[in-house]
Amino acid sequence: MLNFEFYNPTRIVFGQGRYNDLDRLIPPHARVLVLFGGESARKNGTLDMVYQGLGKRHVESFGGIEPNPTYETLMKAVEQVRANRLDYLLAVGGGSVIDGTKFVAAAVFASGDPWEILLSHGANVKQALPFGTVLTLPATGSEMNSGSVITRSDIKAKLFFTNACVFPQFSLLDPTRSYSLPPRQLANGIVDAYTHVMEQYLTYPVNALVQDRFAEGLLSTLIEIGPRVLANPQDYDLQANFMWTATLALNGLIGAGVPQDWATHMIGHELTALYGLDHAQTLAIVLPAMLNERKADKRVKLMQYAERVWGLKEGSEEARIDAAITRTREFFESLGVQTRLSGYGIDAEAIPPVLKQLESHGMVHLGEHRSVDLDVSRKVLEACL
Ligand code: NZQ
Ligand code: ZN
Repeated sequence: MLNFEFYNPTRIVFGQGRYNDLDRLIPPHARVLVLFGGESARKNGTLDMVYQGLGKRHVESFGGIEPNPTYETLMKAVEQVRANRLDYLLAVGGGSVIDGTKFVAAAVFASGDPWEILLSHGANVKQALPFGTVLTLPATGSEMNSGSVITRSDIKAKLFFTNACVFPQFSLLDPTRSYSLPPRQLANGIVDAYTHVMEQYLTYPVNALVQDRFAEGLLSTLIEIGPRVLANPQDYDLQANFMWTATLALNGLIGAGVPQDWATHMIGHELTALYGLDHAQTLAIVLPAMLNERKADKRVKLMQYAERVWGLKEGSEEARIDAAITRTREFFESLGVQTRLSGYGIDAEAIPPVLKQLESHGMVHLGEHRSVDLDVSRKVLEACL
């Protein structure tokens, strides 16, 4: 096992209808900014319950945070926080609203241009406003991690930052909040959580026995409940298991002491920035091609994945590995998420701009061995067509 330091201060408050807990979780004299996305949180009643839970505190709102949240929109929230001396943020939404809130929390204290936070991937963040979250979309794990991904529309850049200052203080996980999710967002959430586990599990073995078993448990759970939650989005037990699985997929636990990949995500971010694909759609396209291209490096873990997650024990090593990658692709497709660029009307002309973006963002040594250079990325993208 590799050396590691594990720290996760986020309090999880799990269960149905726990909005009165907000009163206990947020300081009584806090001046709160509630941040949300488009209309979903208002329409499904989440916002009403949140406002009720906040009681008599000074509460202001900031709506309109878009999927793949933009710097341009979020800077307006930063202005509101500064102008009205707000001191506590509450994100109500999915990964985009939570990531956006993390950026606002840190940007409020930035002395120069807050875009620097993204350019340095969070290395210089020294403080952030405290914040909590009310999750409405299981997918990113942002509700229990210190990562955030922000898009700058004018230059079509989608970059991440991480810093321990932007762990949520608490996250309220109410599985009934996801009942209103449309199939596309549910499927996206399943694919995103699945790929988060794969980025931390499917590398090379370091004798991290419990991390491996945990990861395999999360993958198997997603395979088991994914199609069922799509068919029955208002089933409490299914949504509860899905929500907790997605949170555990990226809260640091399974990634402690193991090598991590993340090349699929970095290429995926460029595809979203340039062509507007949903985050999970990019992962469903890139992951199978990435595994196939890097079969040799990942051989031992691919064999373990084939056997323990897909029950593939017969045939040559090559055949089992190919079958495991095919099963992965078929799983995504069975959820209704296309796994080829062509499925989204994108052809080979899209590849050079993606490579150019990767280069300009310094994404030229990706993966657990830092071996995914632009040549490997090009081969992967060609296999995505
Ligand atoms: O804007 P509203 O009207 O709220 O609608 C949203 C949005 O259109 C809708 N939605 C959310 N909850 C709903 C709902 N619709 C009905 N009922 C509900 N309960 O879903 C749409 C997508 O929301 P979004 O927050 O964008 O989705 P997701 O949670 O998948 O977040 C994606 C973002 O997270 C980033 C991605 O890059 C992307 O920008 N990621 C963040 C990570 C992190 N912080 O650790 C890791 C991930 O790998 C990922 O990169
Ligand atoms: Zn992701």
